[in-house]
This record gives sequence, structure tokens and C-alpha cells, in this order.
Amino acid sequence: MLRQRSRQVVFLVPRAARAVVRPLSNLIRGMVCGAVIHPLASIGPRVHIGRGCTIGRCRLDTMNGRGEIHIGAGTTVYNAVEVLVHGGTVRIGRNCLITRASAIITGGHEFRYSDRLIQEQGTFARDVQVGDDCWIGYRAIVLGGVTVGEGAVVGAGAVLTRDVPAYAVVAGVPARLIGRRHGLRIKGSGRAAGTAPAV
Ligand SMILES: CC(C)(COP(=O)(O)OP(=O)(O)OC[C@H]1O[C@@H](n2cnc3c(N)ncnc32)[C@H](O)[C@@H]1OP(=O)(O)O)[C@@H](O)C(=O)NCCC(=O)NCCS
Repeated sequence: MLRQRSRQVVFLVPRAARAVVRPLSNLIRGMVCGAVIHPLASIGPRVHIGRGCTIGRCRLDTMNGRGEIHIGAGTTVYNAVEVLVHGGTVRIGRNCLITRASAIITGGHEFRYSDRLIQEQGTFARDVQVGDDCWIGYRAIVLGGVTVGEGAVVGAGAVLTRDVPAYAVVAGVPARLIGRRHGLRIKGSGRAAGTAPAV
């Protein structure tokens, strides 16, 4: 009841006031974390942003006050990305590129019983992990329970329903393996990009 009330109050806060509060809180959060955060990014509670991150005009939301989001140092989250956590934890590794309009969604509605409304069946949430050095392509969707291995590449428009091995390249709906990254040295990084393990 209290939570419902507070949600109503948040909804009623005039747009003008939010237009001041949000840039200010993003500026302060950015200074505290050592990150660059877009003034209009919508960032909920229990979102932990690592040093050197760049966060665009995206939505990182722990909905209903449940769950957590962790974003590793040096990761870039582009505009229009949505990370919606309905419970559980989303962990994004270091130095990742979470490209424009992609989404990570941890949960959904229970629907198995046909004799009851879906609305009445409650919700579920599962953790999502994205390893270091991953590239999530434009409009890709990562669903709850999925682990994206270190160094993986997810093609534009892919829907991830299963785990992705490290250094794999996946694409399509549902996402399938289409290739692998090789152990070539990244120019200037002083380290190998990694050798892809057998899938
Ligand atoms: C996933 C991706 C990196 C693969 O690049 P690649 O290794 O050069 O792959 P190729 O172009 O050689 O394609 C290999 C196969 O996968 C298919 N494929 C590639 N990308 C695909 C995608 N996003 N969805 C479905 N199929 C895809 C190709 O059609 C090809 O199929 P075929 O062998 O039957 O002809 C790239 O296609 C992609 O989606 N990039 C994301 C771009 C993006 O989101 N940019 C945002 C701005 S940063």
C-alpha cells in the first residue's frame, strides 16, 4: 500500500521538477562513480556503475524496488538501452559495448495455467550475466537466466534465450552461433583477444 502510494507520488512529480532533479542526480552519481552519465538517463536504485563507464540516455531500472544492476568499469551503455530488472541481478562486465536500443530483461509473467488470468499468476526473475569485453548489437535482447561469456559478440536484432560461450559470435532469433573471435592481438592493447574454447 505504502509502495503504491509512493509510486503515485513519483508519477505526480511535475515533469519540470524531474527535468532538474534527474540531471543533477546523474551529475552527482557520475562524479561519485567516476563515470560519464547522460543528464537524462533514467537510473533506478541499486544500480552500481563502475569507474570510467559512459552511460547514454538509457533506462537502468530495478523495477518494483527489487534486484540489482552492476556495470563493470570502462563499459559503455548507449542511448535507448533498457536494462529492466524485475528481481534478480544483472551483472555486466568490464569494457563492454551495450549498443543502442538493446535490452536486458530479467523477468516476466508466469503463464502456465490456462484457467487463471496471467495477471493473477505472479512474476518471475532470473539473473543475467554479461562477461568482460562483450559487444551487444543494436536492438538485441538478452532474456533472464542467460550468461554471455567473456568476449562474446551478439548480432543486431538477436534474441538470446540460452547461454553464449566465451568469444562466440551469435545472431538471429533465437540466437545461434555464427562464428568465433580468434586469438589475434588487439592493436595497442598489449594482450591477446583470447582463444575461443570449443563450443
Ligand atoms: C554479428 C555480426 C558482428 C557478425 O559479423 P560477421 O562475423 O562479419 O558475420 P557475417 O557478415 O560474415 O555473417 C555470417 C552469417 O551470419 C548472418 N548474420 C550476420 N549478422 C546477423 C544478424 N545480426 N542477424 C542474423 N544473421 C546474421 C549472415 O547473414 C551470414 O549468414 P550466411 O553464412 O548464411 O550468409 C554483425 O553481423 C552484426 O550484427 N553486427 C552488429 C552491428 C550493430 O549492432 N551495430 C550497432 C552500432 S555499434
